[in-house]
Amino acid sequence: MLATIFTGLRFENPFLLASAPPTESENNIMRAFDAGWGGVVTKTIGLHPVANVVGPKTKFLRATPDSPHLSMQKRPGTALHSSWNWELISDKPLDWWVPQLGRIKKAHPSKILVASIMAGSGSDEELRRWQELAEACQNEGADAVELNLSCPHMDRKDMGSNIGKDPELLSVVTQAVKEVARVPVWAKLTPSTTDIAIEAKGAFLAGADAISSSNTFPSLPLVDPETLEFEMNVDGFVSSGGLGGPAILPLSLAKMSQMTQAFPDKAFSGIGGVAEFAHALNYFLLGCGTVQVCTAAMLDSAVGPNVIRRLTSEMAAVMERRGWKSLDDFRGMLRDRVVAHSKIRRPDAEGYHGGYQAEGYSAADSRS
Ligand SMILES: Cc1cc2nc3c(=O)[nH]c(=O)nc-3n(C[C@H](O)[C@H](O)[C@H](O)COP(=O)(O)O)c2cc1C
Repeated sequence: MLATIFTGLRFENPFLLASAPPTESENNIMRAFDAGWGGVVTKTIGLHPVANVVGPKTKFLRATPDSPHLSMQKRPGTALHSSWNWELISDKPLDWWVPQLGRIKKAHPSKILVASIMAGSGSDEELRRWQELAEACQNEGADAVELNLSCPHMDRKDMGSNIGKDPELLSVVTQAVKEVARVPVWAKLTPSTTDIAIEAKGAFLAGADAISSSNTFPSLPLVDPETLEFEMNVDGFVSSGGLGGPAILPLSLAKMSQMTQAFPDKAFSGIGGVAEFAHALNYFLLGCGTVQVCTAAMLDSAVGPNVIRRLTSEMAAVMERRGWKSLDDFRGMLRDRVVAHSKIRRPDAEGYHGGYQAEGYSAADSRS
């Protein structure tokens, strides 16, 4: 009942761990598969040396009930607002990953193993690095590759979300990987652009088999009003990092809706703020075929055993109750319910013209 086909791959359920600490090692990924995840996207693998900041790489912002107070300070009785991180891609080299990928796939042949990869884009040499990474991972049995075009904290102008913000650059990278890929290629886009459907078009034109979205949203930690220091800093300094978790669910849905409306026949993997099936359902109803989880899993024994148990049991219960036989019975059901503001009914339909004067509005309306 929960099984689904996405980019030609059979998933026993449509839930994956997103590329992040839960998928940073063979040990974690094996535990995740034993716990019931249908697939995983590995922590992003690259060819450049990586050195993370001193101190914690991720913290969690929490809300105090019945109060406007938000803080990363650990205190009882709070609700999760978001995760904030400035972690770079995997600090382990490709040579470390290659045998692990092979062993994971052999141990779990029916689970879906997606390798997240990243290189630069400013030269032919960098494009060849993307190809080298894709080939190495698929040779070890990776079922798909996900292109990290979305890491929000890169200094390099030709890497991470700086590629994802440039439709031409992301097309070139996607095309380079497609030239060597024998497995589906997913492009993970950044949410920090004006109209994400433009970047989606660039990826699809270059042959991407699916789009994953969102990566974390660029953001800063809050300042502690007592110490006048950022709640997360090194020597008093901070840099842009990524917001994930509950706070980004509605934001990521808005991005996803733009893309699934523009490309209703394409494949999308929804990411951002998912902790239970009611959250994932939003992505499915907008047209996604799979959903990925990071923050909620990090807070649940590192790989989310309880999260995946709840996702699958709640999905089965909802499908049973509604008489749905497969995800295809409800995927995209609400995609076309997101409309222009002027299409929303109001008490006096004659009195509102979408911000235009009555005359101008008629002209704009007749153009559409
Ligand atoms: C600590 C941390 C590290 C992450 N590292 C990566 C990464 O290496 N590659 C990547 O594509 N996304 C990375 N992400 C982004 C997640 O895969 C995911 O897109 C984002 O956290 C939103 O999902 P969530 O709301 O479930 O956390 C990372 C997120 C966190 C919190």
